[in-house]
Amino acid sequence: MDLLIGLLALGYLYSFVSPDAQGDALYALRTSLNASTNQLTDWNQNQVNPCTWSKISCDSNNNVTSVTLPNMGFSGTLSPRIGILKMLTTLQLQGNGIRGKIPQEFGNLTSLTILNLENNHLSGEIPSSLGNLKRLTFLILSQNNLSGSIPESLSSLSNLMDLQLDSNNLSGNIPDRLFRISQYNFTGNLLNCGINSSQHCATGNAGRSSKPKTGMIAGIVIALLVILLLGSFLLLFLCKGGRKGYRREVFVDVAGEVDQRIEFGQLKRFSWRELQLATDYFSEKNVLGQGGFGKVYKGVLSDNTKVAVKRLTDFESPGGDSAFQREVEMISVAVHRNLLRLIGFCTTPTERLLVYPFMQNLSVASRLRELKPGEPVLDWPTRKRVALGTARGLEYLHEHCNPKIIHRDVKAANVLLDEDFEAIVGDFGLAKLVDVRKTNVTTQVRGTMGHIAPEYLSTGKSSEKTDVFGYGIMLLELVTGQRAIDFSRLEEEDDVLLLDHVKKLQRDKKLDAIVDPNLNSNYNIQEVEMLIQVALLCTQSSPEDRPAMSEVVRMLEGEGLAERWEEWQHVEVTRMEEYERLQRRFDWGEDSINNQEAMELSGGR
Ligand SMILES: *[C@@H]1O[C@H](CO)[C@@H](O)[C@H](O)[C@H]1NC(C)=O
Ligand SMILES: *[C@@H]1O[C@H](CO)[C@@H](O)[C@H](O)[C@H]1NC(C)=O
Ligand SMILES: *[C@@H]1O[C@H](CO)[C@@H](O)[C@H](O)[C@H]1NC(C)=O
Ligand SMILES: *[C@@H]1O[C@H](CO)[C@@H](O)[C@H](O)[C@H]1NC(C)=O
Ligand SMILES: *[C@@H]1O[C@H](CO)[C@@H](O)[C@H](O)[C@H]1NC(C)=O
Ligand SMILES: *[C@@H]1O[C@H](CO)[C@@H](O)[C@H](O)[C@H]1NC(C)=O
Ligand SMILES: *[C@@H]1O[C@H](CO)[C@@H](O)[C@H](O)[C@H]1NC(C)=O
Repeated sequence: MDLLIGLLALGYLYSFVSPDAQGDALYALRTSLNASTNQLTDWNQNQVNPCTWSKISCDSNNNVTSVTLPNMGFSGTLSPRIGILKMLTTLQLQGNGIRGKIPQEFGNLTSLTILNLENNHLSGEIPSSLGNLKRLTFLILSQNNLSGSIPESLSSLSNLMDLQLDSNNLSGNIPDRLFRISQYNFTGNLLNCGINSSQHCATGNAGRSSKPKTGMIAGIVIALLVILLLGSFLLLFLCKGGRKGYRREVFVDVAGEVDQRIEFGQLKRFSWRELQLATDYFSEKNVLGQGGFGKVYKGVLSDNTKVAVKRLTDFESPGGDSAFQREVEMISVAVHRNLLRLIGFCTTPTERLLVYPFMQNLSVASRLRELKPGEPVLDWPTRKRVALGTARGLEYLHEHCNPKIIHRDVKAANVLLDEDFEAIVGDFGLAKLVDVRKTNVTTQVRGTMGHIAPEYLSTGKSSEKTDVFGYGIMLLELVTGQRAIDFSRLEEEDDVLLLDHVKKLQRDKKLDAIVDPNLNSNYNIQEVEMLIQVALLCTQSSPEDRPAMSEVVRMLEGEGLAERWEEWQHVEVTRMEEYERLQRRFDWGEDSINNQEAMELSGGR
């Protein structure tokens, strides 16, 4: 009996995850949407794996991740059966004539980040089960015939950045917490907006100061457009996991004065020939550097734009071109002042290339250690700015991108400097492009010795805290100018690892000996101390003890470091005492056979 139940359960599980189940569910969707016979002709019921079907994308495990069917002129309804697509991140069905209700079962699509059902004829209530979609970033249900009240459960969607419910037939109150979402639109409904919140019923941007001075807007917007065109971003943010077909937007926020959406251009697909000419046939003299992912060449495009072309080596992409392109698009939505922007890419059967803007002042590592005669030393204020800018860039990757991006190789060599010596983090997102071959045990550890967090080395598992560790080491590089690993330090009977070296000097209160001699004493010792403290907090051996990048940013801005540092010292002192106590016990145990007191001490406790 038990066995029978077990087998049934196994059978159920199997059918749940098998490609056939996914194919069946998608075929049911096609049928319920009432697609005409000349639409989706390659959606073949007999073909078990839907990953080859048009408008569908899958991950490397053949789990369906996106279904993109906008403006197809369907007239049917939504099938509840697609609720089994557990890995679906994007569902786009806008601009069709879809009728009926949004199925409760959509609440089972727990990986979903984008749900766009805009401009259909959907009616009935918004299912409260959508509150289960914890990763949802975009929820676009505008221009339908949805009625009833807005479910309170939507308040729990902490990743939601854009909620568009305008032009429906919704009534009742709007849950308060929805006004904290970055973008929302509730206009064109029968919603009860209360006496004092009429503007709330309309559109908004939560958490920013309002009322821009209209006279200034046009000028600032034009200025921003020019800046965007020139390719350097002022403030800004968005990363919301934009996918194929979704319009990409950049939200620009200038000192709280302006709040405008600006369409962000498509990634450019370069031809091999174009890049060959730009780099003078990938000439060795144009090599800017070589990292874990391949060589980087300096190039000049036909319109005289200077670029850096990264030629990936060692890549394997089972999903082929389209999988590569998808990843590249994911990277390209990470747009931030302190992140290296992707301009475009190129694929051929044997090559994968990425094109970035050229960074005039190269990398922090080169500015610290490869100065040519006559080039100025990175001064202390610039080093502080680099520390903060890098922290902000990483914070954005970890906390504002969905899915979050883990860099995996944070170090001074991967932090570039633009013409204003602003820190620009490069090389993020590449690990996934290159490292897709998944072995059964662990994915290959990628990174640079001396910068790699201990848990990543020992388990192969990376997390944002692995990046925090790398960041801490980079701070030490900034302060000392030294390499993370340096065997020449052995000659002075010192530590090979920069971290150990700094810890020792810090314990002995020899902070001055830590600082880069190139600074010629032009630095503020309190600020040095602060950066060292942050670095030591970031490089704690246990990942849970390390601060998140957002906390690092706050500490660098002068908030909360003292408390955390006190905690650290307490823990460190206890750790040292414990170590010494064990050491003592060990010593006594060794040579005190006749020492009664020692015997007792080392005995029954
Ligand atoms: C995704 O695919 C993998 C491998 O085929 C499978 O183990 C996993 O259960 C699938 N997940 C879902 C939700 O279908
Ligand atoms: C399906 O589409 C056909 C025409 O393409 C139409 O005649 C039929 O009424 C539609 N069925 C539904 C249920 O909308
Ligand atoms: C899917 O959703 C339905 C309705 O919301 C629910 O009853 C069911 O348990 C869910 N199934 C799974 C496998 O989560
Ligand atoms: C909207 O839905 C209601 C029922 O909820 C229905 O009576 C009405 O006809 C629908 N209107 C449109 C324009 O589809
Ligand atoms: C809000 O929705 C209304 C009605 O659909 C639309 O006209 C308006 O442009 C939207 N506002 C914004 C800022 O998107
Ligand atoms: C809006 O909903 C109400 C009931 O809440 C219904 O009586 C009305 O017909 C709907 N309006 C439209 C345009 O469908
Ligand atoms: C509306 O005003 C009352 C007092 O005038 C205040 O208590 C309440 O918080 C306000 N509601 C909103 C949503 O601002």
